[in-house]
Amino acid sequence: MILEVDDLQIHYSTRAGPSGSGVVRAVDGASFAVPEGRIVGLVGESGCGKTTAVRAIMGVLAENGRRAGGRVVFKQQALDEAATKKLLWRDIAYVPQSAMSSLDPVYTVGAQLVEVLTKRGNATGRAARARAVELFDLVGLSENRLRDYPHQFSGGMRQRAAIAIALALEPSLLLADEPVTALDVIVQRQILDMLRELQQRLRLSIVLVTHDISVVAYLCDDVVVMYAGQVIESGPVRDVLARPRHPYTMGLRNAFPDLLSDALELVPISGSPPDLADPPPGCRFAPRCPFALAACTTGTVAIASGSDRTHRSACLRDGEADQLRKAALDPETWLRSSSFATS
Ligand SMILES: Nc1ncnc2c1ncn2[C@@H]1O[C@H](COP(=O)(O)OP(=O)(O)OP(=O)(O)O)[C@@H](O)[C@H]1O
Ligand code: SF4
Ligand SMILES: [Mg+2]
Repeated sequence: MILEVDDLQIHYSTRAGPSGSGVVRAVDGASFAVPEGRIVGLVGESGCGKTTAVRAIMGVLAENGRRAGGRVVFKQQALDEAATKKLLWRDIAYVPQSAMSSLDPVYTVGAQLVEVLTKRGNATGRAARARAVELFDLVGLSENRLRDYPHQFSGGMRQRAAIAIALALEPSLLLADEPVTALDVIVQRQILDMLRELQQRLRLSIVLVTHDISVVAYLCDDVVVMYAGQVIESGPVRDVLARPRHPYTMGLRNAFPDLLSDALELVPISGSPPDLADPPPGCRFAPRCPFALAACTTGTVAIASGSDRTHRSACLRDGEADQLRKAALDPETWLRSSSFATS
């Protein structure tokens, strides 16, 4: 494993609201691993803690955020803040969620790339310029675009430039946060194809954050599904998406069109995720789960391995997964609201 995240807990302190304590448990006991040379998709709805998890791995949390527990281990080395700083960009690189706007509008893209190479990488001017040309070529941008400003780039080109900047110092692990959100489907596929090619050519390991399970189906080898700050299912993509065992994953699969084929009817999961300052007891998906039982709303639901050990799921009704999966294919199932809704 190149990266292991074990029982990670990230808290944000905020002003206390009427229900909450003022602590947002944005990541609440998440564990997952990234095998070397694989592309792992971290997927879940908006607000489930994906960005927080990858920013915590990078040690670049917002000021009001802190690691309240858990371990991050990179190449067998446990990372605290000081250790992470040393690895940043050279070993682990990050394409932020706001990559499009993270480019500085007043400098040319080439100047920004050269600055990364000289400041973070200690390259000299001439070598940095030559490397910038190489990096642009690597991400499919022509070298004469180095003189352009970000506003002269399309969304897809800006994303390519942000990836070039992240790859500047030859990291072995790339964390890419929503790299294709807000791009049209054709450009999405071009960027995803480029990531796959880069992964093979540079022997990268990649964590790809997305809210779109069809992006995971298209590109990823493994998937980690998050819900309300927790990992609720994980395993090889071909197993998890063909035979999801957690009702939330079953619902997500119905809610997104396939990138490659005409979709069947899309069925959204009704309701919204819980307030992470005051999450419900028991399974956090219970208020929206069409299969919830009374027992689901008390106690914690541990994540358990299936018979093949690599596919893990945290559902009390895991033993009935085959029947639930069949029922989940019927849109009617998702129109019935859970009898355990709290709001
Ligand atoms: N700086 C912050 N202070 C307080 N709460 C925060 C902060 N940043 C994020 N949160 C909260 O933490 C939770 C997780 O947010 P995060 O941005 O990690 O989710 P996400 O899965 O990346 O969502 P999205 O798909 O919208 O990018 C959310 O409830 C969010 O409102
Ligand atoms: S534990 Fe219960 S509420 Fe949670 S996903 Fe499984 S069946 Fe649904
Ligand atoms: Mg995010």
